[in-house]
Amino acid sequence: MSALKNRDGLLWGFVPSTTKNPRHSAYHQKTVIKRIENLDYVDAVKLLAQRAGLAVPEGKSNDGLTRLRTRIYEANREAAKFYNKFLYTPQGKDGLDYLKGRHLTDKTIIHFGLGYSPKSRFELVNCLKKKGFTESELIQANLANRSDKGYLFDRFSDRVMFPIIDLRGNVIAFGGRIMSDIKPKYLNTSDTPAFNKSRNLFALQFAKNKANGQLILVEGYMDVIALHQAGFENAVATLGTSLTNEQATIIKRYCEEVVICYDSDEAGQKATSRAISILRPTGLRIRILKVPSGKDPDEFISSYGEQGPARFRMLLEKSGNDADYRLQNLRAKYDLDITEQRVEFLTNAAKLISTFENSIEQDIYTAKLAEELDVSKDAISRQVQRFYKKKSRDENIRVQREIRDNLSAKNDRINIEKASNLRAAHAEETLLAIIMYDPGAAMKIFKRLPPEKFVTSFNRKVYETLKKHADAGYDFTLTDISGEFSNEEISSITRILASVPKEINSDEASDVCIRVLEEEAQKLTPEQKANADAQTLREQIKKLKEKKK
Ligand code: UTP
Ligand code: MN
Repeated sequence: MSALKNRDGLLWGFVPSTTKNPRHSAYHQKTVIKRIENLDYVDAVKLLAQRAGLAVPEGKSNDGLTRLRTRIYEANREAAKFYNKFLYTPQGKDGLDYLKGRHLTDKTIIHFGLGYSPKSRFELVNCLKKKGFTESELIQANLANRSDKGYLFDRFSDRVMFPIIDLRGNVIAFGGRIMSDIKPKYLNTSDTPAFNKSRNLFALQFAKNKANGQLILVEGYMDVIALHQAGFENAVATLGTSLTNEQATIIKRYCEEVVICYDSDEAGQKATSRAISILRPTGLRIRILKVPSGKDPDEFISSYGEQGPARFRMLLEKSGNDADYRLQNLRAKYDLDITEQRVEFLTNAAKLISTFENSIEQDIYTAKLAEELDVSKDAISRQVQRFYKKKSRDENIRVQREIRDNLSAKNDRINIEKASNLRAAHAEETLLAIIMYDPGAAMKIFKRLPPEKFVTSFNRKVYETLKKHADAGYDFTLTDISGEFSNEEISSITRILASVPKEINSDEASDVCIRVLEEEAQKLTPEQKANADAQTLREQIKKLKEKKK
């Protein structure tokens, strides 16, 4: 136990609040300041306020939610300690052997706070209950599930555990790897009030301090850990999903250059193209590191033993930028000895080059291509210009069309039922805007209007989400619900908000809108009615189920 205690600081990079006079230690001051340097402004203010014992300015603060989050962090920290301790017990030997078998050193296991979850599904629940956590807290932390019979059982069982830690040192989630071929290979914490998988990156808490202008983006937890152990401590990974725009924004905050180093299989290469298109708009320099012979970075490093780190360094140094990568991929599709295919390749390459925003970049790649394929640079250049002009023309037409479509409110790609239910949809949107602007009016609307009354399903989903947040006592602004919608959906909701004037009289307007919805409900086609009925039925069944629990 005392060994674990001593390790605690190392393990979680966090000084527990119970430490006596923590602010008096010079070492502590230094680590706090170091950490603050890498937080964004809001987080830094929060951290400083916390340290000074002031109330944390949370914007429109919501005490209930803040308290719940803190409890989840605490439960997760205890769970991480529990899993880590279990790794060193006789029953945890399989887990320890597994990690050692994957060439992880003791130092690495401690550094990442790795652990092992017991096979029996009650040990963590029992341990945390003894420490005073309620069943509801354990479920909300997604550490436990409730069985049909009503008792709680551990979510993770018989898995090697990877704690996921945020920039403030909070344990926010876990990934757990099964040691056999059973699926799923990795089980991750689902989103909780304290964790959003699309807004965090694995090992960023370490990598941000080692970035030095560059982060390496890999696919898996094991890739990150193997790279850190090999001395590449600027590696991060997404958390079981493909890269999101939010993660790209975070990456941009900590470096100027990102090296994408995904698996070399087909799925990995597809993911690479996707990541490029998400990272490009941030203005980050992008390089692509292709690991040879179908390996992932972890396998590559392991396979070379002591030479692994040096080998990887070589790959890193010769990795090209994304323009190279895409031209190479394109080239691989053609047999350049056949004249027609050569022409086709050149045409498509010119098209690709025309999409590079930077004209110097365009010129360099045109020259390179001309030399390599032994054709005149002018010919390629003219072709590039032709595509470039066409692209600008198409872009203009597209923007104009978008403006027109927005005005007519037809062709709403997100709410496809809107066009055929314009009157109802307008009433719904006005209500949604009122809810988000005026919490007082919102509560009245929630009381009067069950979600089934919404005619279009997208607006109904937005309404249900807002209501769900309100019912749980959370704030329900656009920001609060944004985690549950795609970017496209969010911009659609933003448009809805912008389309309703703020000075509208909430009570009067909601009266009118609710009346409109009731009238429109009368006019529904039998098929639409059936859909609405099915929805009501689903709601009722769900409520019954919840009551049973
Ligand atoms: P990989 O299957 O490439 O895993 O998935 P890996 O990291 O190389 O794992 P090892 O080497 O087999 O142990 C890449 C990442 O995708 C997520 C995990 O985050 C994993 O690290 N993943 C994968 C899941 O979330 N669930 C799965 O079932 C599989
Ligand atoms: Mn792997």
